[in-house]
Amino acid sequence: MVEATVLHPLLAAEIHADIRGPLTESTHAGIISLMDHYPVGVFRNKKPLSDAEHVAFSRRFGPVERMKTRGDLRVPFPEIIDQSNLDANGAIFPDDDKRLLYKRANRLWHTDMSFHAVRATYSLLSAHAIPPDGAAPTEFADMRAAYDALPEEIKLRIEPLVAEHDYYHSRVAGGGPEPTLAERKLRPPAKHPLVHVHPGSGRKSLYLASHISRIGGYAAEDTQALLDYLMAFATQPQFVYAHTWRVGDIVMWDNLATMHRATPFDDQQYRRDMRRTTVREGNVELEAVL
Ligand code: OGA
Ligand code: MN
Repeated sequence: MVEATVLHPLLAAEIHADIRGPLTESTHAGIISLMDHYPVGVFRNKKPLSDAEHVAFSRRFGPVERMKTRGDLRVPFPEIIDQSNLDANGAIFPDDDKRLLYKRANRLWHTDMSFHAVRATYSLLSAHAIPPDGAAPTEFADMRAAYDALPEEIKLRIEPLVAEHDYYHSRVAGGGPEPTLAERKLRPPAKHPLVHVHPGSGRKSLYLASHISRIGGYAAEDTQALLDYLMAFATQPQFVYAHTWRVGDIVMWDNLATMHRATPFDDQQYRRDMRRTTVREGNVELEAVL
């Protein structure tokens, strides 16, 4: 048995487990069964896990994606995605840095890696440094509860639809620059059904993200209208848990049952050092984009 404290009745729980060392089988199984019910699991650690501990914990939940080639890294682990506002030397990115502009697009509701054919299951985000006064919480929305609450006629309409997810669609929508052709080639779009069954709970769920650029059979304006409706519906306050970070927290979320977004803070003044691992449905090695 793993103890938990409910943080949001639909989708979030603090999970009381020591995740720094090897997990026993029963702790591992207990975490998975809690996550199947509450797709956002919060682990409060007294201090941040080391990158190696973070990766080792993540690996217990499936194949962790790796970056193939990257230049000078602030965090020299191919499994760790640097979600900070810091360059390789630990200095804050200037306001117009392309990497920062692209990271700011995380402020749009999304699910991680939906633009890839091999979907992400869990993401695990670890807080190493955060801005003061609880700034920059991360928000999560329950896509199963949102699906359940949709009007029947909308459920019927969206059931057969397939959406194309494109990383650069959200980067540009979020205020970033147009990608180069070479960048586009490294991250081609991927198609996924808009409605699927969340494997962990067996419940139907929306698979929605700001990465969606097209819906099969829909004209551009109809795509936009449907997405605007679904996004607004699915992110109503009753479906949303906002996580206020403490240094040391690891938040683990199930991308197949939730969307999430970053929230704004003064990223020219404060350091926010967040590091993510991503568990995938199968093994993947990614080319570095930036
Ligand atoms: C992510 C992400 C949000 C945040 O790491 O995938 O979207 O608040 N992060 O940093
Ligand atoms: Mn994300």
